[in-house]
Amino acid sequence: MQMAHLLSPVLWFLAFVLFLLIVVAPSAAVVEDNAFVVSLHELKFGDDEFGFSSSTSAPQRPRTQKGATILELRHHSTLSKHKKHQNLLKMDEARATSIQAQIKNYNKFEKKKEFSSEAAQLPLSSGVKLQTLNYVTTITIGSTNTTVIVDTGSDLTWVQCTPCTACYTQQDPLFNPSSSPTYLSVLCNSTTCTTSLQAATGISGSCSQDRNNCFYALGYGDGSYTRGILAQETIALGDVQVPNFIFGCGRSNRGLFGGTSGLMGLGRTQLSLVSQTTDQFGGVFSYCLPTKLYNSSGSLVFGNGTSTFKNVTPVSYTRMIADPTLAPFYFLNITGASVGGIPINASGFANGKILIDSGTVITRLPPSIYKSLKAEFMAQFSAYPSAAGFSILDTCFNLSGYDEVRVPTLKLEFEGDVDVSVDVSGILYFVKKDGSQVCLALASLSYEDQVGIIGNYQQKNQRVVYDTVGSRLGFAKEPCSYS
Ligand SMILES: *[C@@H]1O[C@H](CO)[C@@H](O)[C@H](O)[C@H]1NC(C)=O
Ligand SMILES: *[C@@H]1O[C@H](CO)[C@@H](O)[C@H](O)[C@H]1NC(C)=O
Ligand SMILES: *[C@@H]1O[C@H](CO)[C@@H](O)[C@H](O)[C@H]1NC(C)=O
Ligand SMILES: *[C@@H]1O[C@H](CO)[C@@H](O)[C@H](O)[C@H]1NC(C)=O
Ligand SMILES: *[C@@H]1O[C@H](CO)[C@@H](O)[C@H](O)[C@H]1NC(C)=O
Ligand SMILES: *[C@@H]1O[C@H](CO)[C@@H](O)[C@H](O)[C@H]1NC(C)=O
Ligand SMILES: *[C@@H]1O[C@H](CO)[C@@H](O)[C@H](O)[C@H]1NC(C)=O
Repeated sequence: MQMAHLLSPVLWFLAFVLFLLIVVAPSAAVVEDNAFVVSLHELKFGDDEFGFSSSTSAPQRPRTQKGATILELRHHSTLSKHKKHQNLLKMDEARATSIQAQIKNYNKFEKKKEFSSEAAQLPLSSGVKLQTLNYVTTITIGSTNTTVIVDTGSDLTWVQCTPCTACYTQQDPLFNPSSSPTYLSVLCNSTTCTTSLQAATGISGSCSQDRNNCFYALGYGDGSYTRGILAQETIALGDVQVPNFIFGCGRSNRGLFGGTSGLMGLGRTQLSLVSQTTDQFGGVFSYCLPTKLYNSSGSLVFGNGTSTFKNVTPVSYTRMIADPTLAPFYFLNITGASVGGIPINASGFANGKILIDSGTVITRLPPSIYKSLKAEFMAQFSAYPSAAGFSILDTCFNLSGYDEVRVPTLKLEFEGDVDVSVDVSGILYFVKKDGSQVCLALASLSYEDQVGIIGNYQQKNQRVVYDTVGSRLGFAKEPCSYS
């Protein structure tokens, strides 16, 4: 009796401590020097059904602060849960393949130029596979609020317009040019219709019969396209007005654009949104991609928003490699990588040209780099049983028997001693929710001479700064999920 009396408060206290540990304890992964020690549960970042709902702070409202304009950036997925992964990775592969084809085309065009100008008339696929372009934002065109896909791998911004010959279903109302006093079509004898459009889409505009309209056409690798009239209009990014912005008023559009109104092109040529707003924003934009797939938002910032960032490491800049022939893409020089603090040796680092893209999901590495990186990862992850590969991912594990997993750190190194530590949410890809098939979230290119791609999966929880005027790209660690 006496014992029971003494014990019960002790038990209550222990239960309370246990409660604190389980419910109140912070969810942050333990970061050792060369590994993240993280619970299996916490690792399932992409999945809100099972993953951690972390922050409860308000989503980003569009606003201007200290000279920078901040827009909300949301993850956008129209895929049903069924076969979600299979489709996503299949489409991701289509985009990566299409980017390679586009680079090849530009190269061919460069070589052929002196012999024939015909190559210039080839409509190039932009490499955009829209279902994989998972990040959307809202801007105002004329006075219509419009949700568009954000793409750093293409240049022309376009939205669906009335009168429509063929429009897919979108959530926002269609943009109606005739009700906007600030709308103007671009003349077909202008250099905008010829030279600029050629650089942006690979094909120059054609004239309407009355020569008052410039027709554009932009085809995508999967048969999706947009066709319409090149026009100018006042747009607003948050509360910053951009008059005379050149965009595509799409009257015939087909494809899987997931209910959005169109696309925002943030590539490198003069028609891209970042080039056209150089006066307002100095040719600088940045984004921070959230880790969660649903109900979570990051930010897209135009202008030097350094003071508005929530970065926890300083922004360090690496040089963008200039390459005028490869129109919209941003290229960097990757000089090394390390797994769990162990540097990787690979011949592929000697010519380290790699492109960074907001629309490709999984990072693609030249075979020489992928092979050594995989070998080192396997060596450090050998405690866990392997599992069958999945789609483009060939390094998979069965983690279902583990409560806690020790994930080696992954660092990418760029010219100028810029080290980018990939967030723990960007290292492994959960194919099966129960953890029985979890893969290293990187893939190999087929050939050594293809160009690698830094995908968005590895850019999560990073502030990525595109300084197009200074021709440099900055990285900083930043927690990105705001809701
Ligand atoms: C458009 O979006 C802005 C900013 O979110 C909002 O203040 C405004 O009310 C919206 N306008 C319309 C017509 O929905
Ligand atoms: C372009 O065409 C318009 C009429 O359609 C004409 O007024 C203008 O002078 C032309 N501009 C050039 C540069 O040829
Ligand atoms: C997102 O939030 C909405 C509204 O709060 C909710 O109805 C929906 O189920 C959530 N979606 C997911 C995938 O959590
Ligand atoms: C932004 O401004 C800061 C402080 O003036 C400067 O150090 C930084 O280089 C600028 N960044 C860009 C991308 O212009
Ligand atoms: C890479 O090369 C360096 C020097 O050549 C060597 O010391 C190191 O062990 C190599 N690392 C791997 C992972 O092979
Ligand atoms: C994965 O591991 C668990 C526990 O270790 C085992 O029960 C299960 O059969 C394994 N699953 C597969 C698909 O190998
Ligand atoms: C990348 O950087 C390395 C080391 O600074 C340099 O040797 C190499 O020439 C650079 N590659 C390119 C394509 O600029």
